[in-house]
Amino acid sequence: MSRLIVVSNRVNPPADTAVGTQGGLAMALSAALREENGIWFGWSGQVTDTYTGHLSIQKIGGVTVALTDLEQQDVQEYYNGYANRTLWPLFHYRTDLVAFERTYDEGYLRVNQRFADTLFPLIEKDDLIWVQDYHLLPLAQKLREHEVKNRIGFFLHIPWPAMRVFQTLPKHMELVETLFDYDLIGFQTEDSLSAFQEYVVNCAGGELHADGRLTAFGKTIQAAAFPIGIDAEEFITAANSDKALAFYNLMRNSQAGRKMITGVDRLDYSKGLEERFLAYEQFLNNHPRMEGEVFLMQIATATREEVGTYQDLRARLDSLSGRINGEHATIDWVPVRYVNRAYRRDELAGIYRASQVGLVTPLRDGMNLVAKEFVAAQDERDPGVLILSEFAGAAAQMKAALIVNPFDRQAMAEAISEAVHMPLKERRQRHADLLEDVKARDVVWWRNDFVARLKGEPVRLHEVEAVA
Ligand code: ADP
Ligand code: F6P
Repeated sequence: MSRLIVVSNRVNPPADTAVGTQGGLAMALSAALREENGIWFGWSGQVTDTYTGHLSIQKIGGVTVALTDLEQQDVQEYYNGYANRTLWPLFHYRTDLVAFERTYDEGYLRVNQRFADTLFPLIEKDDLIWVQDYHLLPLAQKLREHEVKNRIGFFLHIPWPAMRVFQTLPKHMELVETLFDYDLIGFQTEDSLSAFQEYVVNCAGGELHADGRLTAFGKTIQAAAFPIGIDAEEFITAANSDKALAFYNLMRNSQAGRKMITGVDRLDYSKGLEERFLAYEQFLNNHPRMEGEVFLMQIATATREEVGTYQDLRARLDSLSGRINGEHATIDWVPVRYVNRAYRRDELAGIYRASQVGLVTPLRDGMNLVAKEFVAAQDERDPGVLILSEFAGAAAQMKAALIVNPFDRQAMAEAISEAVHMPLKERRQRHADLLEDVKARDVVWWRNDFVARLKGEPVRLHEVEAVA
């Protein structure tokens, strides 16, 4: 029987799934791999003086986890450098924040080579290999250099940018050429898929076939959209657990009858946190009678702290939340509760459930799993309202949310007002529509679809249509 080998930069052993962790990729894969007798390969998160290529192999929850350490220079050039100073801002349309450094390119290719060299001896003839995300775009090319003939798939968890944005990357063509060593490439949305197709056809001189295959650089690959979901049933169970209930009660008591507008994000500039704070302030200014009646609960966990743009953002948010509170707070009301710590999943579920409004307003996001978790955690009898950015991949599926343009402060302020005042009947209807889709297109649906396509089986188009 063929095994599934998942490769990702960050590896969260499945035994950790009960604990709150940051990052949609880690959450999604731990849920997906729980049922697979596969191998999950990636970086241990540990740093050594010099790279050894040593693999630590452990069996956790039925999954073999194979981890390799990286050396300090690798982490700086590959993870903090090319992945998070070059590709991340570029793919999120923040060309103003992109750093192009030759050493980052070199480090990125070196680590991909090291991953390929270390993974290669583990690969058996019939294994399917599934590579995750922007850290590892060229991995298939490096594996093919070892004569690996297995089927290799790639899934991009972040957006693929518009052609003219992508073309600002030095050596953009070389990077795309490496993708043609995969058999299948998956994107979160049709939007990202189209942007990739446009690049291949109009920049790389390739061809888009009627069945969706792409030919360029003398090779033909499959490319399609596979919107990722959450482990919906488990999240609903978590939202009904004792721990969630305890957090729900804690929140409700501390709300003292006030409506809670909640945001939960990594502290990342793609998440639109400053714009969100300012829109909330605009809402208070537009509706002075709401002062003391609502508050914003923003949970923003620090991430990628060695990267300067993240340090700058943190400083700006500290100052902005302080200013809004200084200007609007009274002796018995604080308008913004700004929290930098991480919570367990069941605790988060309790917080979501106690919220009257979920504010998910990234400026650009591959999917955004928080939007789906918020919906799954609600009490169907008295659900909260989801406000969702049109620039989150999730907006293509979650049309019953209040969809907003996160760059439009007034429109966001009015959406907050609409959400806070929405009648129960409308809240129930919107929530029912959203929940149906969150359950139908969950993480298992996503994985099964991708793996079936990677094996060469036909896509389950009828199921896609049924829930569309
Ligand atoms: P990204 O992958 O860019 O971080 P997503 O919204 O897709 O964005 O996924 C974020 C994941 O991280 C979600 O599963 C969410 O529950 C989790 N998360 C975000 N912030 C926190 C936090 N403060 N504590 C615990 N988990 C968090
Ligand atoms: O989902 C996007 C993503 O970048 C994942 O690839 C990543 O694991 C997650 O967000 C968190 O980022 P990091 O691994 O850098 O903490």
